[in-house]
Amino acid sequence: MWIVFLPITNTSCVIMDASLIFKLKFLLLCLLCTIMFNFVMCSWNMHCNEKDMNILLSFKTGVTDPSGMLTSWFPKLDCCQWKGVKCDNTTGRVTQLNLPCHTNRHKLVAFGEKENKSHCLTGELNLPLLELEFLSYLNLSNNDFKSIQYNSTSNQKCDDLSRGNPPHPCENSTNLLYLDLSYNYDLLVDNIHWISLFSSLQYLNLGGVHLRKEIDWLQSMTMLPSLLELHLASCHLENIYPLREFANFTSLQVLNLADNRFLDELPSWLFNLSCNIFHIDLSRNKIHSQLPKTLPNLRSIKSFVLSHNCLKGPIPSWLGQLGQLQELDLSHNSFSGPIPESLGKLSSLIKLKLESNDLNGTLPEDLGQLFNLETLRVSENPLTGIMSERNLSSLKNLKNFSMSSPGLIFHFDPEWLPPFQLLNIELGHLSDKLPAWIFTQSSLKYLTIADSTTSFEPLDKFWSFATQLEYISLRNNTINGDMSNVSLSSKVVWFVENNLRGGIPHISPQVVVLILRNNSLSGSISHLLCHNSRDKRNLQYLDMSYNRLTGELTDCWNNWESLVLINLRFNNLTGRIPDSMGSLSNLRFLYLKSNKFFGEVPFSLRNCKNLRILDLCRNNLSGVIPNWLGQSVEGLELRSNQFSGNIPTQLCQLHSLMVISLASNRLSGPIPNCLHNITAMLSNYSAAHKVGFTLNFPGFSVDLSCSIPMLIKGNELPYFNVMNAIDLSSNNLSGSVPLEIYMLTGLQSLNLSHNHLVGTIPQEIGNLLQLEAIDLSANNFSGVIPESMSALNYLSALNLSFNNFMGKIPSGTQLGATNISYMGNPHLCGAPLTKICPPDEKSNNTKLIGHVDDDDKLEVYSWFYMGLGMGFVVGFWGVFGAILFNRRCRHAYFKFVHRMYHFVIHRTKSIY
Ligand SMILES: *[C@@H]1O[C@H](CO)[C@@H](O)[C@H](O)[C@H]1NC(C)=O
Ligand SMILES: *[C@@H]1O[C@H](CO)[C@@H](O)[C@H](O)[C@H]1NC(C)=O
Ligand SMILES: *[C@@H]1O[C@H](CO)[C@@H](O)[C@H](O)[C@H]1NC(C)=O
Ligand SMILES: *[C@@H]1O[C@H](CO)[C@@H](O)[C@H](O)[C@H]1NC(C)=O
Ligand SMILES: *[C@@H]1O[C@H](CO)[C@@H](O)[C@H](O)[C@H]1NC(C)=O
Ligand SMILES: *[C@@H]1O[C@H](CO)[C@@H](O)[C@H](O)[C@H]1NC(C)=O
Ligand SMILES: *[C@@H]1O[C@H](CO)[C@@H](O)[C@H](O)[C@H]1NC(C)=O
Ligand SMILES: *[C@@H]1O[C@H](CO)[C@@H](O)[C@H](O)[C@H]1NC(C)=O
Repeated sequence: MWIVFLPITNTSCVIMDASLIFKLKFLLLCLLCTIMFNFVMCSWNMHCNEKDMNILLSFKTGVTDPSGMLTSWFPKLDCCQWKGVKCDNTTGRVTQLNLPCHTNRHKLVAFGEKENKSHCLTGELNLPLLELEFLSYLNLSNNDFKSIQYNSTSNQKCDDLSRGNPPHPCENSTNLLYLDLSYNYDLLVDNIHWISLFSSLQYLNLGGVHLRKEIDWLQSMTMLPSLLELHLASCHLENIYPLREFANFTSLQVLNLADNRFLDELPSWLFNLSCNIFHIDLSRNKIHSQLPKTLPNLRSIKSFVLSHNCLKGPIPSWLGQLGQLQELDLSHNSFSGPIPESLGKLSSLIKLKLESNDLNGTLPEDLGQLFNLETLRVSENPLTGIMSERNLSSLKNLKNFSMSSPGLIFHFDPEWLPPFQLLNIELGHLSDKLPAWIFTQSSLKYLTIADSTTSFEPLDKFWSFATQLEYISLRNNTINGDMSNVSLSSKVVWFVENNLRGGIPHISPQVVVLILRNNSLSGSISHLLCHNSRDKRNLQYLDMSYNRLTGELTDCWNNWESLVLINLRFNNLTGRIPDSMGSLSNLRFLYLKSNKFFGEVPFSLRNCKNLRILDLCRNNLSGVIPNWLGQSVEGLELRSNQFSGNIPTQLCQLHSLMVISLASNRLSGPIPNCLHNITAMLSNYSAAHKVGFTLNFPGFSVDLSCSIPMLIKGNELPYFNVMNAIDLSSNNLSGSVPLEIYMLTGLQSLNLSHNHLVGTIPQEIGNLLQLEAIDLSANNFSGVIPESMSALNYLSALNLSFNNFMGKIPSGTQLGATNISYMGNPHLCGAPLTKICPPDEKSNNTKLIGHVDDDDKLEVYSWFYMGLGMGFVVGFWGVFGAILFNRRCRHAYFKFVHRMYHFVIHRTKSIY
């Protein structure tokens, strides 16, 4: 035992040395300090087991540790004192290793942006770490490990495991109870068989780890007889059926398989789990089946989550017999028929989510008796009948209420005082008056009213109530109100398609998202921008597109530095683009399309270093194409302006560029021969690339997706998935097409039509395997159409008309061809043209595929017509939570979701 003198440097001791009493206390305190110090020294004395230490050290050698998490891990120090390590008091054996990485949740996260894990542990994860015989707890979650290394440190061979051989005990690892490797996103695990070595395991979390190749994961998990909790969310799992025997989890309590790739049916083993199971989450898969017709073995289940699948058929009434049930989430499926009355018996129920199904009939009145209910969400179902206070009479704990259906009539007593105070209300299809009880909800934070013809009168009362909430969304209502005297102070204001009139409302500095899209607002934007205020402006998202704004963009942008997105498309704004926009250093998206701006694009915009999309289409802008754009630009849309001069070669240095649209200008000269330097166009990475961002607020978050609008058949449709596209059509470009363009192997759409281009199409066009649409029409191209075009399997729109192509049309290119694809080329022959190739032509194929109807109307943009089906893919996308792509959004161009912390289990994150 060491006795060490304790040097008194404790400042709190010194400060207390003021009076006599304090001196006494001081002595006592120091005595205590000494005793405690000795205690600490005692444990220092006890060295950790050397074998354990060596295992830990060999783990450390495989790890890269950028932030020095493991600096205390050196042999001279007792390994029981190392960071994250805990030992058994008496034996000195290592029992716990707890090294999760903590990452910050940023306020603004771009879609696809990975969490910054530059400070987390990375490198290889040495599995022999698990040879620590007495280790019972291992948590390495949320780090950045890239691979699992199986090689054993000891003599025993574990190597076989990596080859998928049956497990054999290579060391005693039966003490491990808790294993968490979740959210090491880049960790690819081909083989999970080794897991069965840990036969005592009670908690296993591999969420977010790639297990794609592991088809037999279920078998491995059933080899763990003590398993209580199994978390395999977002693991890219595909097979939910046991390969060999029945999946016999005997003690499982929690099963989380959310966000995988399970298709087809719910497996029968799920309904025969032990009577211990109390939480099942299979949300966000693509499961198609019905629920069983008879009561399965789930009697103690408390939480049953099957949302965001394709489940169909009726909601079975046996659910009403699950007396312990606290959470039932069947939302976002295709369940049909009535909501069973029996759900009214689930007196423990706290959350009931049935929204976005095909449920019809009336809302069972008994649901109004579920006094524990906090969440009741049944909107977006074809429910009918009358909704009145009787449906909600006993719900004194209700916080989150969502209800809308075209056939549902809201009929509340205007005097009714609800027993609840809600946080969130979402209503839709209101026709008469707003239910008066809404105004009694003094705790309300979030309000959504959609698709309603209700009168919001008296508007003064409504605005003074609603504008104070944190989040307010009014969509597709008829609010015939003048907004010029309304003051908004919500963090999120989302007023879309409401027929709002008058001038732009005032906004307070708290407003972060202001969306007033598709209304009838008029007047100048300067009232909003140039209003003098010393407070820091927080506005990040400004969308006033599709209104009737007029006047110039005033030079007041210096005040709005937090702006990330500005969307003023489809207004009547005029003047020059002001220099002060260059002060918007956070700006990522600038949409000014379809206004009447003129002059040059100001040089000051080069200071917007984060600019990703610049959409200035359909104005009267002139001058040369900016050659000073920053590296982050992904979409450059300058179509339909008066730009002149050459296409600057500096564009080739924009390595992120995915969309270049310079069509319908006065550009001349050649196409630059350096386009192959644009790396983003070399891969089809963009196919899965969504543009937008998530704004995180305390308690909720908003996903705002931004489109790159594309012209399809003359109409503009929003692309949520970015395409790699080059459109240089309708200019005065001359010369031949540089071969480098055929090196852009990720290119999906190429339009060079209506120029003065010459030369032939080279065989190399066959390299553009991602190509979906190509239009070379109305140029002076010549030569034969290369056979290699037949290899373009995705090609669904082809236009080579009005050139001088000759010879036989290669078979196979009919794929993307319509009857106009080849017209105006007098020397072309073969299908689908009616002109038969002369027999001396190389081929003797005279088979006609179809007759050409010459009466078909020619449309300027019909080249893209066929591309529509294939290219326009809108789907689900999620980082943290649900994004419902609403059919209503077809003409809108952002998706939206707001989640509430209180009600939603964070799916992809376990640590915060
Ligand atoms: C990640 O964070 C570190 C500081 O912790 C910073 O130096 C680095 O630039 C960040 N990386 C990215 C991509 O933001
Ligand atoms: C494995 O553990 C058991 C009991 O925990 C013990 O009896 C046995 O000796 C250990 N075997 C090895 C190889 O350490
Ligand atoms: C399941 O059955 C297999 C084979 O019958 C057995 O090896 C395994 O231990 C069982 N698992 C559980 C959790 O009972
Ligand atoms: C509900 O829908 C089913 C078809 O899914 C239909 O047979 C039934 O009549 C409908 N019930 C009501 C009340 O509309
Ligand atoms: C707008 O609401 C009306 C009902 O008031 C509905 O019929 C219509 O489909 C809604 N429009 C959109 C685009 O959702
Ligand atoms: C823009 O102004 C013109 C007249 O200058 C008018 O015809 C047009 O309807 C206006 N557009 C909008 C969207 O208000
Ligand atoms: C394109 O890349 C090549 C090297 O691959 C380089 O020599 C050339 O200067 C680049 N051109 C432009 C315009 O960036
Ligand atoms: C086409 O020509 C090939 C030889 O090039 C010959 O084998 C084939 O029989 C011919 N087909 C027809 C329909 O004449």
